[in-house]
Amino acid sequence: MSATAEMPYFINPSKNLSKEEKLEAYEMAEMAINANLDEAQLMVMKMSTINCILKTYLPYYYWVGFYLVHKEALVVGPYQGTLGCLHIDFSRGVCGKAAREQKTQLVNDVHALAQGKDHIACDPNSQSEIVLPVFDKNKNLIAVFDVDSSLKNSFDEIDQEFLERILKRHFEERALQKGICANEVV
Ligand code: SME
Repeated sequence: MSATAEMPYFINPSKNLSKEEKLEAYEMAEMAINANLDEAQLMVMKMSTINCILKTYLPYYYWVGFYLVHKEALVVGPYQGTLGCLHIDFSRGVCGKAAREQKTQLVNDVHALAQGKDHIACDPNSQSEIVLPVFDKNKNLIAVFDVDSSLKNSFDEIDQEFLERILKRHFEERALQKGICANEVV
């Protein structure tokens, strides 16, 4: 299946990296994320900043963002990219599978999956994807983190290792205040 939708002026097609380039980019991104967020506590601040820094350093990140667990489903949270689906049931898509199994999902070719059931195409340009569960310090699932590429085979064990470590550090190991306002708990 080919990608057909025209990309908006502020979105570029993905560019894959060699393993060496990818490692170097993640090392710089991880340092920038830790430097900016180690003292941060607000969930929305952490999510927005992680999206921005990763998308800046990794040129195959076409869509990057968080879906938040809300009323036993996933709702779109902070993201960068084209318009994301607003609601995703736990029973559907790669995001739903990551939430159900509470395990990272790597998909080399999203069009090989059953469309509408095992994969939800918010943007037909997406071709490969990684989705990771996000936990708080009590190991409760609070979100999934989703990255899409407009090329096949963009994600591998390097992405998985760096992203699992980044998410653990900033949502499990450090104080997390949900919401936007300092006194808000959602
Ligand atoms: N592709 C995801 C849906 C979210 S979008 O990619 C932004 C899925 O199958 O769950």
